[in-house]
Amino acid sequence: MTHPRPLPELMHRALFKSVSVLPPRRQAAVLRRYFNWHHRTPDRWRLSTDAYEQHKYATTLQALPERPYARILDVGCSEGAFTHKLAEAYPKASITGVDVSERALNRARAHPGPPGLSFVRADLLSYDHPDDYDLVFCAETLYYLGTDERLRLASARLTRLLSPGGLLVLVHPWPESRRLHGHVGLPLLSHHVEDKTHRPFAVAVYEAEPAPSGR
Ligand SMILES: C[S@@+](CC[C@H](N)C(=O)[O-])C[C@H]1O[C@@H](n2cnc3c(N)ncnc32)[C@H](O)[C@@H]1O
Repeated sequence: MTHPRPLPELMHRALFKSVSVLPPRRQAAVLRRYFNWHHRTPDRWRLSTDAYEQHKYATTLQALPERPYARILDVGCSEGAFTHKLAEAYPKASITGVDVSERALNRARAHPGPPGLSFVRADLLSYDHPDDYDLVFCAETLYYLGTDERLRLASARLTRLLSPGGLLVLVHPWPESRRLHGHVGLPLLSHHVEDKTHRPFAVAVYEAEPAPSGR
């Protein structure tokens, strides 16, 4: 089945692709300014109330195997609508939401959450941390990266943040997700396509290599 892309979406992708010809640091600076402007009024995408978004969050959480996740990262967390759902689902975990927009993060921080929940301003292409994560999410964000070259860098960065055996969960519109997720070099643990909605999406769960067993 073909899925014709609406014109506003095609224009949106073309705009962000043009930004991605800049060097990564310049691209990050433009995205930071743009998203601070975008977040000038609260919850402009209605991520905390829209029924489609709530269904996507529930579908994403259902895709996770039951494991004792201790450290969780949500990259491109915006105002934390999904990050707070993660905190409800895993109240004992250390959970970090990352976004380029300080304005979005200040709203995320204003919402009460468990002590292990924190929000950090950083760009996806340069975020690093000395500890690794059992679970890394990136939803509705990779299309801002633009070119395939930037997607390759982003996929490598997200993969590097995983602990041995950790899971990378990517959630993006289907079938565009085939391109957006196509640079991840990890084995796919599960892949769910939700196509009975006005805007189909895919939830892809990748698993990092487990630690080599000591002999
Ligand atoms: C559409 S929202 C997705 C929010 C959330 N992941 C969800 O699914 O509900 C995209 C977010 O990605 C952030 N973003 C865009 N490019 C980014 C980048 N290069 N690094 C970090 N965050 C980025 C934006 O600031 C925005 O808040």
